[in-house]
Amino acid sequence: MKSIPVALGDRSYDVRIEAGLLACAGEALAPLARGRAMPIVTDENLRPHLATLQSSLAAAGIASEAILLPPGEATKSWRQLEALTDRLLELGVERSDHVIALGGGVIGDLVGFATSIVKRGCNFVQIPTTLLAQVDSSVGGKTAINTRAGKNLIGAFHQPALVLIDPDLLATLDPRQVRAGYAEVVKYGLIDDFAFFEYCEANAAALLAGDSEARAYAIAHSVAAKARIVGEDERETSGKRALLNLGHTFGHALEAETDFSDKLLHGEGVAAGMALAFAYSARRGLCPTQDSQRVAAHLRSVGLPDGLAAAGITASGAALVEHMLHDKKMAAGTLPFLLARGIGQTFLDKTVELADVAGFLDAQSR
Ligand code: GLY
Repeated sequence: MKSIPVALGDRSYDVRIEAGLLACAGEALAPLARGRAMPIVTDENLRPHLATLQSSLAAAGIASEAILLPPGEATKSWRQLEALTDRLLELGVERSDHVIALGGGVIGDLVGFATSIVKRGCNFVQIPTTLLAQVDSSVGGKTAINTRAGKNLIGAFHQPALVLIDPDLLATLDPRQVRAGYAEVVKYGLIDDFAFFEYCEANAAALLAGDSEARAYAIAHSVAAKARIVGEDERETSGKRALLNLGHTFGHALEAETDFSDKLLHGEGVAAGMALAFAYSARRGLCPTQDSQRVAAHLRSVGLPDGLAAAGITASGAALVEHMLHDKKMAAGTLPFLLARGIGQTFLDKTVELADVAGFLDAQSR
């Protein structure tokens, strides 16, 4: 068992990673349950994982009640938040109790936010079932729902009490979802870890084909990187945590252009967004063109989009920049961009002119 600490003072917790962990989760959760029941929130597609988890809890003497929600992004809504918080209150959840989020980013974000407000805050445990949730959203305490005004605009920082990652759960995940999650893995190499990017280049094919050693290593390395960054800048105030948004500003515009639909999964938007961030950095003379081309080639080689065309985007630069104006990172009329001086050398640039970005995007689609 690999255990990675997220060091946040009295909000510190461990991320435990082990193949087969779901089937023995009860043992890991018993010290938190302390004889109390643990509600499990999951989605209707995850019944087999729910059955495994409930057997394990029962074997450890922990009572559990399943709350099943519809799968999909639409579940991160006021309506589902209201229904979930009502149900948790009906179940008599107390502040010291722990609610389990068993699912991908949608379930993790919703349960995290719900538990941040039930009785002014109770505890939750993340058991992420997608690669994207395992390497990114389950760690770090960002929780949110979507509203008419946009994605993730209503939420809270609320850290889980424990994260249990079972890489074996990826075996039943749609390969497209695994590939999309892989974008967030390679992101850690692009941010500040050239050696890990080289590892990704050499091992991505094995990882995506299901090699358990490659998956376990990549997940642990990614979680350790995220834990380090979150430990330094929990609330994204110093600029360090903002590095985790590499590719997200461009990616957000592409996702908005496709109505946040299955036409472009979040991880696919991030992949195309990272390729664009490197291409834009190269165009500005900040980053060697070879590095930008190397990033695009790697993304292409694993079947991820490496730019606008591969992401199926035909919109003009002006239209894409218009989406960026609604980005929640917009501050005092300026949108900070994550750019790069090379692979593993990402930095935050607050001087980017959106008209220049529009011109760059138009040139990309010609
Ligand atoms: N997914 C970016 C972050 O957790 O800060």
